[in-house]
Amino acid sequence: MTLRSVVIGCGRYLPDRIVPNSEFEKTLDTNDEWIRTRSGIERRHFAGDGEFTSDLAAKAANAALANAGLDADDVDAIIVATSTPDLTFPSVATMVQQKIGMTRGFGFDVQAVCAGFVFALTTANGLLLSGQAKRVMVIGAETFSRIMDWTDRATCVLFGDGAGALIFEAQTGTGKNSDRGILAADLNSDGRYKDMLYVDGGVSSTGTSGKLRMQGNALFRQAVEKLAATAETALENAGLTRDDVDWVVPHQANIRIIQGTARKLGVPMEQVIQTVQDHGNTSAASIPLAFCVGVEEGKIKPGDLCIAEAIGGGLAWGAVALRW
Ligand SMILES: CC(C)(COP(=O)(O)OP(=O)(O)OC[C@H]1O[C@@H](n2cnc3c(N)ncnc32)[C@H](O)[C@@H]1OP(=O)(O)O)[C@@H](O)C(=O)NCCC(=O)NCCS
Repeated sequence: MTLRSVVIGCGRYLPDRIVPNSEFEKTLDTNDEWIRTRSGIERRHFAGDGEFTSDLAAKAANAALANAGLDADDVDAIIVATSTPDLTFPSVATMVQQKIGMTRGFGFDVQAVCAGFVFALTTANGLLLSGQAKRVMVIGAETFSRIMDWTDRATCVLFGDGAGALIFEAQTGTGKNSDRGILAADLNSDGRYKDMLYVDGGVSSTGTSGKLRMQGNALFRQAVEKLAATAETALENAGLTRDDVDWVVPHQANIRIIQGTARKLGVPMEQVIQTVQDHGNTSAASIPLAFCVGVEEGKIKPGDLCIAEAIGGGLAWGAVALRW
């Protein structure tokens, strides 16, 4: 008997406040045209005062539960991928438990920055396949607006806030790659690249939360190369090739990275889910948000082979091959 981690529901939440590129023209030497052409971003959502990562995550979680037709206590575990928790501890996952009324099971956070959702998916798969849990909710939730340096035009225009959630259930499969569910993954990190993308503060160093710092150009060059390679490896691990791919569901950092990776993979842009124009880079939330949008738009359907890929601070990067 082969167990598979199969998606049984998805949900998302974006804060009400939508910020168009033109908003930044008021305070920075930038303009809508520069932001659009260099990043593909047109607008992003920012959390309101008093609205925290756990609030976004809980709303996405409730939407996913409704989509799956489940109650909170029908889920055994919650994993939240985030780099912007409400507090240093407890975890956002336990706060979500409380907010959605989940009184059993367990929850914890995973931190791999923009690649966090891919790492969390792989962790959830391990729990499900080992029998530790029967149903796991995986949430990506971020409030990157809280770690922006609003005087740094090269970073603050690129990020946004949001949350997305997928619920997985252990189901019996055939063991073939025609099964629905998570089929294979590829995970990587390399701490030598730390200076390319980091936050300049933290609990143990400055006692502050710090601001995001990025070497955009250097990171850009790493991203396309590493994303295409990790996607290829995840497919290979599943015994599949690029020809089997129905949808690329990329981390939404920059449309040019998304296009470059798709070109390298040999997958046409018509088969790539794109949300960066509306969400900006929501870090660990961007892949689950993109899955939800893909489903809502009638693109991703049960049985479709999806490859999710992401890279972020660390550097950490990886991909998951998942049959929806
Ligand atoms: C950040 C990024 C959009 C910049 O695009 P780019 O084409 O590489 O632009 P550069 O960094 O070469 O900057 C070109 C010029 O635009 C300027 N610039 C930067 N931000 C600007 C802005 N918001 N508005 C106007 N000009 C800006 C730079 O100062 C630079 O000016 P200079 O030539 O006078 O020094 C791009 O490098 C990128 O997306 N990198 C990857 C970032 C990423 O995805 N990070 C997250 C990964 S999880």
